[in-house]
Amino acid sequence: MSGISESADADGASSSIKEEIIKGLNEDLAREYKAIIQYIVFSSTLKGAEYGNIAGQLEKHASEELEHALKVAKQIDYLGGTPTMKGKEPENSEDSREMLEIDLRAEQETVKNYRERIRQAERTGEYALSEVLREIIAQEQDHEIDLKDALGL
Ligand SMILES: [Fe+2]
Ligand SMILES: [Fe+2]
Repeated sequence: MSGISESADADGASSSIKEEIIKGLNEDLAREYKAIIQYIVFSSTLKGAEYGNIAGQLEKHASEELEHALKVAKQIDYLGGTPTMKGKEPENSEDSREMLEIDLRAEQETVKNYRERIRQAERTGEYALSEVLREIIAQEQDHEIDLKDALGL
C-alpha cells in the first residue's frame, strides 16, 4: 500500500517538473512569436542614416527568431506538450531609437528566461533540450550585442 503511494508520488513529482518545463517553453515560444513580428515590422519601418546597417540585421534576426520558434515548438511536442498558437503582445513605436530599445529589452528578457529553462532542463536530465536551448541563447546574445552596438551602448 505504502509502496504504491510512494511510486505515485514519484511519478507525480517528475511529471510536474516536466509540466513546468513545458509551460516555460510555451512562454518562450510566445516571446519568439512576438520577436518575429517586431523584427519584421521594425526592419521595414526603421528610419535614419545613423541606423543604416541595423535594419538589415533586424531582418536577419527575424529569420533566426523563426528558427527558434520552430525548434522550441518541436521540443514542446517531444515532451508531450502542445505548442501554443498565441504570441505575447508585440510593442510598437514610431521612433527608431525606441524600436531598438524595445527589441533590446525583449532580448534581455528572453536570455534571462532561456537561462532559467536551461537550468530546469539540466536539473531534470533533459540534456537534448538544454543542447538546443544553448544554441538558441547564443544567437539571442548576438542579437543583444547588435542592438547595443546600434544604440551606442
Ligand atoms: Fe529567439
Ligand atoms: Fe533574439
